[in-house]
Amino acid sequence: MRPIRLGVNIDHVATLRNARGGAHPDPLAAARLALAAGADGITAHLREDRRHIRDEDMRRLKTEIAAPLNMEMAATEEMVAIACMLRPHAACLVPERREEVTTEGGLDVAGQVEVLAPRVAALKAAGIRVSLFIDPDPRQLQAARVVGAPVVELHTGAYAEGRPGELARLQAAAAMTAALGLECHAGHGLTFENVGPVATLPQVMELNIGHFLVAEAIFSGLSHVVREMRVRMAAART
Ligand code: PXP
Repeated sequence: MRPIRLGVNIDHVATLRNARGGAHPDPLAAARLALAAGADGITAHLREDRRHIRDEDMRRLKTEIAAPLNMEMAATEEMVAIACMLRPHAACLVPERREEVTTEGGLDVAGQVEVLAPRVAALKAAGIRVSLFIDPDPRQLQAARVVGAPVVELHTGAYAEGRPGELARLQAAAAMTAALGLECHAGHGLTFENVGPVATLPQVMELNIGHFLVAEAIFSGLSHVVREMRVRMAAART
């Protein structure tokens, strides 16, 4: 089977940084660590309200990291203009509502073909690989082709919540991407426990994973940093 890529979403490193208003933890440093550990690319979502990643983060990720940068963004004129200026490797168009905690549900491509087609075209003209974050729904897959996107990212949120029938839906949608000539990515809510069945789907070329990795890193790293703090405190006393 063809290898599968991992895009590490570092949004929540910025969430932690912004909680204190300083510069630590730096999303760029996290991106470097993720790449050194085997990530194939970095994903970051520049939200309209800039609640985590900021414009300056995107600029630094683009200029200071050589690996592919996938910019998640709403399909607004503002974001299309920023992306065309920044020229990340890829742009993933997602639905966005201010009141949501995370991206809930896929983009309704079928319902906004006229709005999306010129925006997808503008991004493609800037040399950006466009993907559409959609539910595993045949209508949305057909529409993705109509608007000219070469890639779709299947929303795995409902599967991750354990809803019955969702793995079969993902399986069918992934198979359909091949017939439509679309590259298939997937993501949202993936963890150590649930990644296996999605990574098994042969059409899926890339997974984008964020929240779990950043959260789990606390458990992988907390004992180390507590020990280090004790050493420094003890050293200061002697
Ligand atoms: N892919 C897309 C398009 C997303 O919007 C998100 C969430 O930002 C992810 C993947 C990653 O989801 P999670 O943070 O749940 O791993």
